[in-house]
Amino acid sequence: MWSSWERRTDKIAKITVIGAGNVGATCAQRIVEKAYADVVLLDIIEGLPQGKALDILESSPIINFNSRVTGTNDYRDTAGSDVVVITSGLGRKPGMSREDLLLANRDIVSAVVRNVVSHSPDCIIIMVTNPVDAMTYLALRISSFPSYRVFGLSGVLDSARLRTFVAAALNVPVADVAVYVLGEHGKNMIVIPRLCTVKGTPITRLLPPDRVNKLVERTVNAGAEVIGLLKAGGAFYAPSAAVAQMVESVVLDKKQVLPCAAYLNGEYGFRDTVIGVPVKLGKQGIEEIIELDLTSEEKARLASSAEAVRELIRAMKLG
Ligand code: 2OP
Repeated sequence: MWSSWERRTDKIAKITVIGAGNVGATCAQRIVEKAYADVVLLDIIEGLPQGKALDILESSPIINFNSRVTGTNDYRDTAGSDVVVITSGLGRKPGMSREDLLLANRDIVSAVVRNVVSHSPDCIIIMVTNPVDAMTYLALRISSFPSYRVFGLSGVLDSARLRTFVAAALNVPVADVAVYVLGEHGKNMIVIPRLCTVKGTPITRLLPPDRVNKLVERTVNAGAEVIGLLKAGGAFYAPSAAVAQMVESVVLDKKQVLPCAAYLNGEYGFRDTVIGVPVKLGKQGIEEIIELDLTSEEKARLASSAEAVRELIRAMKLG
């Protein structure tokens, strides 16, 4: 029954997704449907990853992919992964901030990273668990991986949200809207309207300031807006699409420049912290950190965002 897979000799990438909740399972689905990698979905809950993986697999004849997706509760099945996406941890409830999850998710993510490192010592880690900047920093410390191999989902998602809102406001295709949202993935994210363009024209020349401010405010609160509507659980379609784009740039060595939570060691004037900045993603992970030309006011805003992350890092008491 499985002979077609056993016959396969090509070395296809192996992606592990830790956490089979809505975000993790939809990440697994979006990645395996692209057919450039096999996917292992792991969770601690018996049956959850196995059931979701089997359900995704049974869509393969319709979607037409032959890559494999399997569910497991055993880290041994994740061994030798090229990329590991970490989504496990507590999610926000209505009214909670991402920062409220810090200490509980510190302990969950620490245990997950230790397991990931022992089974896939050469992998690239993509962190999704919130507060993602702090969790990315934690994963770096626990794994002792080089900083180019550990980064987080932040600005790709935030930028997609702003692009969505701007495209709707101006009735233009989303592909025509470009932006890099920077800084903390949270209430201190840095949205710089002049960096948001429609076919090269800044939105500050296309919309009045009050409209621009409303779009920025909606972007900053977009995660909470979805949580408020759902009442239980949070966003997962857009987050999983953002993760899939990051994974694809790595696995296919596309070298896309995407805004991610990345460790800074002097870039933008910051050391030993993680915030969202544009990075070039290829098969090694972060191949380059892109330093945008910011005004002094924008640099000051980025510095306060970086300080907000530093406070979270200090609060984790990593020693
Ligand atoms: C969000 O903003 C999950 O942090 C992610 O929805």
